[in-house]
Amino acid sequence: MDELDSAPQNGHEDVASVISCSKSSDEVLNKSMQRVAKWSAGPAGTGNALIQGDNLAALKLLTKTHANKVKCVYLDPPYNNGESYQHYFDSMGHEEWLKSVSDRLEQIKLLLREDGSVWISIDDSELHYLKVAADAVFGRVNFVGTIVWERRTTRENRKVLSRNHEYLLVYSKKISAWSKVRNSLPLTDEVKDRYKNLDADPRGPWQSVSANVQDGHATPQQYYSLRAPNGRLHSPPKGRCWGFPEQRMLEEIAKNNVWFGRDGNAVPRLKQFIANRKAGLTPETLWRAEDVGTTSQAKKHLLALFKEISIFDTPKPEHLIQRILEISTNPGEIVLDPYLGSGTTAAVAHKMKRSYLGIEIGDHIKTHCAHRLQQVVAGESGGISRSIDWKGGGGFDFYRI
Ligand SMILES: C[S@@+](CC[C@H](N)C(=O)[O-])C[C@H]1O[C@@H](n2cnc3c(N)ncnc32)[C@H](O)[C@@H]1O
Repeated sequence: MDELDSAPQNGHEDVASVISCSKSSDEVLNKSMQRVAKWSAGPAGTGNALIQGDNLAALKLLTKTHANKVKCVYLDPPYNNGESYQHYFDSMGHEEWLKSVSDRLEQIKLLLREDGSVWISIDDSELHYLKVAADAVFGRVNFVGTIVWERRTTRENRKVLSRNHEYLLVYSKKISAWSKVRNSLPLTDEVKDRYKNLDADPRGPWQSVSANVQDGHATPQQYYSLRAPNGRLHSPPKGRCWGFPEQRMLEEIAKNNVWFGRDGNAVPRLKQFIANRKAGLTPETLWRAEDVGTTSQAKKHLLALFKEISIFDTPKPEHLIQRILEISTNPGEIVLDPYLGSGTTAAVAHKMKRSYLGIEIGDHIKTHCAHRLQQVVAGESGGISRSIDWKGGGGFDFYRI
């Protein structure tokens, strides 16, 4: 008898009350899914769901309840690398694999909000085929970019080439809508360190930027000799002009917005205050292990989480998923992961107060995902927890198709 059968009868609640959005879809889902109290946690009806079953079937069901509602989909499908892992096989014919992912992307497109995005983990072997297949689903115009993730920092000596990185293919449902809502990343310590306060300015730390610009579109008013407060004259270098006409530059000097160095003799530069900086950092396409973690760090985290059960072979680090969700979602928005694995996306979404739907076919959705999420609800302290001061709370529902 499996855990579903041994779950208490009152654990078979109406799935529709939790994850569906209309009465007719309640009926559809209610026939197809059962809530299992034993593998759920916290109050029912939070909107967070772990769904055990084939993801194509589950995605089709979700189109009845969540069409145009999902803000971000993260997919980490088996890479079709011929490996046989402890919890799943990763070996299909190439065409069969490609069709299987394409079929799922078609359903995912129906679930995405207009300003939603899709992030697909993949390695070298199938990357280029997958790009063409995903272009066919989302349209080349909606391709956002390819991110390179440094998944290991040690050399893999058994291979001809040590593959230290893999990829994230990023698509939007509609590029014009997504580019308006895409979040910047928080300033890093390295960027913050560039801002100093060399003159104890009461407006706080600042960095200096060039006061002269390339003279391609210059007006005649931008060419002049600028007199510094100490009387020294400065001219822009050849091929450049001042960024402001003389009158405006003198006003900026009067407002203490121009820096002439500690001794007042340096080439003038403009002060840019950290307090005036509106945007964070534009995400780059190279994601270093030191910023988003490695596969082996993810495994160490799982070792701490699951002391008595077998380790999951291919987890992603929580910091990697955190960065994806920081860029693509805001608190309360819905995240979907149809290849949930050990539950990383659900755990990160939960800690970041996003709503989530995770689908996984294997029994490790109970032993790993539900078990992990129960620990998260109880305030688990690994992964991203310390950096965001996670203390626990919330809940999720476990369903079986
Ligand atoms: C690479 S792993 C995902 C790892 C995950 N990102 C993590 O951090 O743990 C791929 C997962 O997809 C699951 N899977 C494969 N085919 C599936 C299907 N048709 N429906 C649902 N899950 C599937 C496998 O069982 C496996 O757990």
